[in-house]
Amino acid sequence: MNPDLLRLQAYPFERLAALKAGVTPPAHLAHIALSIGEPKHAPPAFVLEVLRDSLAGVGSYPATAGLPELRAACASWLQRRFSLPAERISASQVLPVNGTREALFAIAQAVVDRSRPGALVAMPNPFYQIYEGAALLAGAEPLFIDTPAERGFLPDLDAVPAATWDRVQLLYLCSPGNPAGAVMSVAHWRRALELAERHDFIIAADECYAELYPDEAAPPPSLLNAALAAGHSGFERCIVFHSLSKRSSLPGLRSGFVAGDQQLLGKFLLYRTYHGSAMPEPTQRASIAAWNDDAHVRANRALYREKFARVLPILRECLPVSAPEGGFYLWPEVGGDDAAFTRELFAATHVTVVPGSYLSRGSAGTGRVRISLVASVDECVEAAHRIASFVKGRTP
Ligand SMILES: Cc1ncc(COP(=O)(O)O)c(C=O)c1O
Repeated sequence: MNPDLLRLQAYPFERLAALKAGVTPPAHLAHIALSIGEPKHAPPAFVLEVLRDSLAGVGSYPATAGLPELRAACASWLQRRFSLPAERISASQVLPVNGTREALFAIAQAVVDRSRPGALVAMPNPFYQIYEGAALLAGAEPLFIDTPAERGFLPDLDAVPAATWDRVQLLYLCSPGNPAGAVMSVAHWRRALELAERHDFIIAADECYAELYPDEAAPPPSLLNAALAAGHSGFERCIVFHSLSKRSSLPGLRSGFVAGDQQLLGKFLLYRTYHGSAMPEPTQRASIAAWNDDAHVRANRALYREKFARVLPILRECLPVSAPEGGFYLWPEVGGDDAAFTRELFAATHVTVVPGSYLSRGSAGTGRVRISLVASVDECVEAAHRIASFVKGRTP
């Protein structure tokens, strides 16, 4: 067996299940899961219709590069969403992926050069655990960069010594971030790009929450915006990851795409061809419909906005909690042992959240919990009331 498999940590939800094992929550209260980041809004009906109408497509093998129409739909969404000039981003700079998760994992396998000693793959901390597993199975060591509250929950890139950057081959960044929802400005992205150029590494920008933001007039920028602003017209060293899971509430469709540096994408396509990562044609056809429509995404954002507006005043009575700059998570400090808080909250209220320490290494997430506002508005409000009365009645 590959000994690196032994280095993989238990997934946060496995640890959460173990934490809750043996606890009997009040039977009269329905369970409300604010733990997993799985959108629960209804998938857009028109996308499901296209999916149904395209089922005959399973009669042929799909190409790993995807249908030209899908790549074109992704490119024109990038142009619309990030105001990118059409001459800068085209279908040839896009590859479909089966959700960003598999692609975020696969990119490390494709780019890490194991023959270079001391290979590092850098990532924010707390972080999406796939980055760590990807680094380990690629034969690299993960380098965790803390994202302290004092720095707006963004990774403190300047805290990493130059000699350490020299060993970094791949840097994962996530904006809006999971779990704190922090957004990288163009200036932040440019700082990362400067480091990538100076120390010769690739940036994997996980932008799967890019469509969930509070202010319609201020959408979060992409690494691609920063690359163009820095004069990197071919998006050199950049690869961005986008998904329909959160944008269109289609987590089960397993559809996303990557875009950026064409040379890098060429190598990634080669890797993916061998790995067998082609997207089934019905999924591709449904994805085209989803990427071509923005109205359902505006409605989706409005629903999240309503949840934050209803939930925050209730939670603020008992917890220091602020609205995120993007995404659908709250990341409050709960004081002390976040795992004990989570377990006791479940025992008292039948509400599940995730301990911050399960989403991080070292002490980066300790003392916080992640509350995922994915359930319906009514369930989120009900959960907020239960959390508030639990916190008020709790003796730490
Ligand atoms: C930060 C982050 N990246 C990537 C993903 C994967 O999303 P998907 O594979 O559905 O695109 C998630 C899912 O929760 C996430 O939180």
